[in-house]
This record gives sequence, structure tokens and C-alpha cells, in this order.
Amino acid sequence: MPRLHHITLVVVLCSLTWGARAEDGSDGWLRYSRITDQAVLRQYQSLPRNIVQSDSSALGRNASAELARGLRGMLGGQYKENSGRPDGNAFVLGTPKELHRLLSGWKAPSDLGPESFAISRFDDHGHHLWIVAGDSQRGELYGVFHLLEQVAEHREIVPDAESPSAPIRWVNQWDNFDGSIERGYAGRSIFFDGGHVRADLTRVSEYGRLLASVGLNGCTVNNVNSDLRTLQPEMLRELARIADALRPWGVRMSLSVDLSSPQVVGHLPTFDPLDPRVVAWWQQKTDEIYSLIPDFAGYTVKADSEGRLGPSHYGRNPAQAANVLARALRPHHGVVLYRGFVYNQHLDWHDLKADRARAGYDNFRALDGKFEPNVVIQIKHGPIDFQVREPVSPLFAALQHTNQAVELQVTQEYTGQQRHMVFLVPMWKTALDTDMRAQNRSTPVKEIVEGKSFHQPLGGFVAVVNVGLEDNWLHHPMAMANLYGYGKLAWNPNVSTDEIIDGWTRLTFGNNPKVVSTIDDLQRNSWHVYEQYTGPLGLGTLTDIIGVHYGPGIESAERNGWGQWIRADHKGIGMDRTVATGTGYISQYPPELAKVYESLATCPDELLLFMHHVPYDHVLHSGKTVIQHVYDSHYDGAATAATYAPRWQKLHGLVDEERYDRTLALFRYQAGHALVWRDAVSEWFLHMSGIPDKDGRVGHYPDRIEAEAMQSDGYTPVNVTPWETASGGKAVVCNRAAPCTLTTKLDRPVGSYDIAVQYFDNHPGAAQYEMTLNGRNIAHWTADDTVPPAVVDKKLDGHTSTRFTVRGIALVPGDTLMLRGVPSGAEPAPIDYIEITKK
Ligand code: GCU
Repeated sequence: MPRLHHITLVVVLCSLTWGARAEDGSDGWLRYSRITDQAVLRQYQSLPRNIVQSDSSALGRNASAELARGLRGMLGGQYKENSGRPDGNAFVLGTPKELHRLLSGWKAPSDLGPESFAISRFDDHGHHLWIVAGDSQRGELYGVFHLLEQVAEHREIVPDAESPSAPIRWVNQWDNFDGSIERGYAGRSIFFDGGHVRADLTRVSEYGRLLASVGLNGCTVNNVNSDLRTLQPEMLRELARIADALRPWGVRMSLSVDLSSPQVVGHLPTFDPLDPRVVAWWQQKTDEIYSLIPDFAGYTVKADSEGRLGPSHYGRNPAQAANVLARALRPHHGVVLYRGFVYNQHLDWHDLKADRARAGYDNFRALDGKFEPNVVIQIKHGPIDFQVREPVSPLFAALQHTNQAVELQVTQEYTGQQRHMVFLVPMWKTALDTDMRAQNRSTPVKEIVEGKSFHQPLGGFVAVVNVGLEDNWLHHPMAMANLYGYGKLAWNPNVSTDEIIDGWTRLTFGNNPKVVSTIDDLQRNSWHVYEQYTGPLGLGTLTDIIGVHYGPGIESAERNGWGQWIRADHKGIGMDRTVATGTGYISQYPPELAKVYESLATCPDELLLFMHHVPYDHVLHSGKTVIQHVYDSHYDGAATAATYAPRWQKLHGLVDEERYDRTLALFRYQAGHALVWRDAVSEWFLHMSGIPDKDGRVGHYPDRIEAEAMQSDGYTPVNVTPWETASGGKAVVCNRAAPCTLTTKLDRPVGSYDIAVQYFDNHPGAAQYEMTLNGRNIAHWTADDTVPPAVVDKKLDGHTSTRFTVRGIALVPGDTLMLRGVPSGAEPAPIDYIEITKK
């Protein structure tokens, strides 16, 4: 591309198309929608209409084009982009060097650190200039996004300067070459299809733009369970195209690599990291990558974990393996993100001292200080695996001479898979703000990974995101708040939850005060609500951990080698991780924190069952017993989830129809699925403990009629597994080609009622249902799994259980209600129960 010397590009506003644009969510928070409020517009009246870009790199050009695009979208009018000395009022973009070339009198701020930006005003020969200076083009781009965010939030543009908290601000995508995504819930891969990199990478560059807009600078594009073809020469040539698509947004590509590659790809007899042939292979392979991708970010490594081969195969340790890769990358300024997620998934359940939570520390502690300077240990925030509540990993405090990055999960693997709204920023902040008291001083996790606590030069943040090809990237319109929030925290972990959610909502749904306060309120508390109706008191999510990690599956955690045990029996529950009588895990924390966790008197309620085994009638700090807390929190959580849809409905007409409808459908679904969770967990605890709910709710459902108790034509009862995921442990199915019916006489007093049908929506299949009252059709619907579940599940269980509600039906005693199910393929029109509640 030739330099843009005095070439003037006039960008014409196409205002007519704006109003017609569909709100499919593809713009994420970068909507740049037109400001119509005259008072707001007035504050931007004096902004220049000229944009001077002082350099011609692809990144620089993107920065000025983005500024023009954003201002045009929000303020209307024409913006001229050029590269010469400003001849009027202008925005001037550039690095200090380029800016000096144009504006001799301008002084660069002294503290422009790596990737930082400074926005300032400068008058030059009578021209009023807004200078967006970046220490590099990347900083410049971040400055532009910052400025545009002010306008989108209707704030005054003021001189400002920011720099990122840490150099590593990456995302991981767990995409496979066949186009599937491990733990992805929004369609297929934007990168790959059919074993190759996609021909059309438009979405990749749009993803790069979204990432850059919140200051993210690296993307590992393939699954950590890396395909063994990754490092083949022909695949690398394809992968280079992805790096090309991300580069203009300052996002560097990295790859997940399998440590057996020297053998599998290189055909060496060994992959022993200490074998000189292996060392030479990694060097040569790394050089080859840099010849194709000059700004390659480095390698992400999952080894000796969940079946992946690693250095332990040869009796070597993670440092020996990581360092070989690091030395190969170092001349090219690449880094190794070696994952701390190393554990044995064949633990002995009978061994009361066995403890998966110990693994990170046990495997890495002794290696502290033994890693090359360009190795970063990537540590999941909790010691298990992204559960709804975990303490922070003790490894953060144990590595004091090693670079570290915290690994978070935007993709909601254990937190509702983007079918439930769960805003995760409060959870991440809880982890990042945890003060580990290493060396008996303040060492919050955020400062450890920023490199501040132990003076480490590298480190930062990684999140598993797993966007997919669906228009809105993550499926739930509310879920993008997590990606946005992650970026904001990686840039500055001190920014508050309120600031993050408020910013996201304004950018995503506009500045109407009612819209903003409603969405902010819904999102703000949603992690807490999800925790309430899923896994309480630090037990873990209580989902089906050996299945798809979505609905309830409580005992799936027990009696296997995965080590996500809850150690429940009829007397008590919880993992004893104390030093005194348990696995000793607590001793891995620095003494001050260990002391807090070790004692029942000081251990916080929300982590109690992570740290201790207690009887069900143990009294919490809250004054409730464990068992009553479980019942109450599940009822409270499900009741709050039921308020989401009606609260959202108050925004009807204030939010575009497309996103309004989609969100409403998901909130209604969530309300129903929260009941599945509530009942499964409460019933299971009642069964295990034998202690009744003092409020008499659990096990008593006066408004319910079990399907198996209704008069059936063709429907047959079946046992559901696990039993707690169906009311009474049973459902009915229609296993014949012809439709089946269930009939019941109702004896409700005269009044208006909601009638809910709890049924199972399997995948695949689209069974049809019809409800008649005294022979009159009052509802029909198709179980077409457009909402649940995210992952294929052919069983009747806690993943597929869902509900349909028909509202405001007038009933009189003696009414006859009939349900008719038409099976489809593998879906036998299953029904669990109906519930009739008075309005
Ligand atoms: C979880 C997840 C896996 C993933 C693993 C990892 O266990 O379920 O799909 O591979 O984490 O982080 O490596």
C-alpha cells in the first residue's frame, strides 16, 4: 500500500441504511449507533471532521478508518482521512516519532509505556488538534477505541492517558480443524472447517477488531487439546492466513502445540525434551513458523493432562519441556504459555488423602525459578476447573520467581453454556482481588499476575472464549458482556464491576436510563443467582461432570478418578482439605490465608464445603444449617431467575425487536431450567440427609400432576437417570408412530391459572405437543431444541428437561385437560409433569 501522502479519502455517510440495519448482535459492543439527542450531539459539535494519520501501516490505517467509522456512525456527516500536515482542526493519530514529523512543537508525554496511549489537545498554527498518540500503532488503536467509547456513552471527550496492566492479554479458542469447538456454545469455528483454515476469514478479522477494542493482543486459535497436524508445513501455511487477518488489529496469533510433535510430525524416534534432536527440531520448526508469521506470539502448551502426552513420559518435568520451546522462541520474541492444568484424572476415590486440587502446586512449586524468562505459567483461577465457585489456586502465591498468567473462562462451560445469563465479572474480580498474603504482605492475585508482587517482567491474563459462527458470537445476547468485561479487566483489573457492566450495556443497548438500569441490575447479580440454584457453599457446580457439564448431575462427581468429589454420605458432605484431618491442601496457601481456611470458625460460608466435610446440620456463619441453606438458596435463586423475563418485558419497545425476542426466549427458558436445578439439588439433598425443609417446600408440590399419574393412551412410564432430574424420578414417553395422549380431570377452584408442562427436549428430533382443555386447543409447540440444550444430548435428564407455560387459562372444577405428543425421530415426545398455578 503506498503512503497516503496528502491523498484525501472522503467517506460519504450512507445514512439511509442505518435505520434498516438488523440488530443481530454481530457488532457486539461496537455498534456506533446514531446519537439523536440534540443536547448530547451539541457537546461533540466542535469535534474536527478531519483525521490525519501520520503513518501508513495497516494498523495505523485501521485506527484512522475506525475513528472515521465510529464518528460517522454516531454523529453523522463526512470525515476526511489523510496523512499530511493538518490544514485545519483535526484529529491527529500517530506514534511520537511520526507525530513529531508533522507537529514540531508537540511534546510526547514522558510516560508512554508499551501499548499505552495518550489523548491530548494541541493548538498548532491556529488549528485545534486532538492528538491520539500511541507508543506504538497498537497503542494508537487503543486510544481510538477509547475515544469512541466516550462518545458512544455520551461522555465528554477529555485528555486522558492509559496503559495496560500487563503484556499478556490473550484469548484462547478451543477450535478444532474440523470446525467443531470444544466447549463452544455458539456454532462452529470462525477459523476452521473440514480440516482446513476457512477460505473466508471475514469473521476472524471482525473478531480481531472486537478483541482490539478492549485491548486484547493475543489469540491462540486452536484447541489446547491440539491436533497433531498443527505443526505440519502445509497446515502452518494455512494458519499464517489467520495471523494475517488478525494482524491489522494488533492481535498476534499463537498456537497450541502437542509436545509429541517432534515424533508425530518430525518423525523422530523420541520427543524427549532433553534429546538434542528434539531440541533442534523445535528450533527449526519455530524458525519455519516465523518465516511465515513474523509476529507469531508463541506456543500454548497442555501436557501431562487429560490424556495429553508430556515430559513425564520421559521422567522430565514441565520446566525442562517449556524451556526447550522457550529457547527456540526467544530470538523471535515469542513466549511459551505452559498451562498449570496438569493433573492425574485416575485418582483413587477410596484414598481420602487423594486430592485433585493439590495437583497444580504439587507439580509446579518445586520448579519455581527454573523457567526461561519467556515462559509464563497459565493457571486456571481455581484449583479444579472453572466451577461456579472455587477458591483461588494456591499456585499463584507459590511461584515467586516465575511469570504467571491467570486463565479465566468466558465460554460458560460450567456456568450455563450461554443458555443461562451469568455475568462472570464479579466472579473473576473475587478471584483477582483475593489477597493471598504471600510473604505475609498484600499480594492480591491481580498484582501477582501483573508481575507487580514478585517483580516478574511478563505475565497477565488469558481467557478461553470460544466464539462461534453464530451472528452474535456467543449465543446469548447478554453473554458478550463477559468478553467485554474480560478485556476491560485484563487492561485494568482495578476497574469496578459497575463500571464494566454499565459501559457494556450503554454500548450494546444504548443509553436510555431505563434500559441501562434494568440490564445492569439483571446482569450484576446473575452469577450469585446461578450459584444459588446450582452448586452451593463451594461444592462445585454439581453438574454432570462426566457428560456435557450443563444440567444437574450431582453424583457424577463421585466414585470416579476425576477428583471433583463432594464426598457426600447420609451424615455429611464436603471435601476435607484441612491439614489436621484432610488432604492437607490448605497448607498450600500462605500461612495467613491457610489459617482462615483451616478453621471452621473462620472459613467463609461460600467455600465451606470446598475446604471441610461437615454434617448437614452444621450451622453456618449466616446462622442457617447447611441443609436449610441449600434448600433456601435454591428456592431463592430459582425465584430470582423467574423475575428475569418479566423485568426484561418492561423494556419492550425500548430495545430492538430481534434482540428483545431472543433474550426473552432465553430468560423464559432459564426460569424453567432453574427449576430443574432447584428440584434436582434439593431433592437429592433431602434424600441424602433425610432432613426435611423446615418450610415444607422440598418434596411437596401441590400444584403438580405427574405424567405417570395421568390417564394414558400410548404413553409409557420410564425411569430417568439420574433420578433427581425428573419429578418422582420418572417421565413418560411415546414409543409408537402414532401420537400418544395424557388426560386428567382438574379440580381447581374457578380462577385464572398458568399451566406449565415440564418435558424433555432431546436433540435431534422435533416432537410436537398440543394441549387441549375440554377438547379446545389452548396451546401447541414444537420441541425443536432452538433454545436448549447447547450440546447434543439424546437422553431424558437434567440437560434436556425444559418447560412450556401457557398463561392465564380460566379453569372451573371438572375441566378435562389433555396433552397430545407427536413423536419425531429419536424424540418420543417425553413428558415429566404438569404444574398448574393460580395467577
Ligand atoms: C476442562 C474442559 C476440557 C478442557 C480442559 C482444559 O476439563 O472440560 O474440555 O480440555 O478443561 O482446560 O484443558
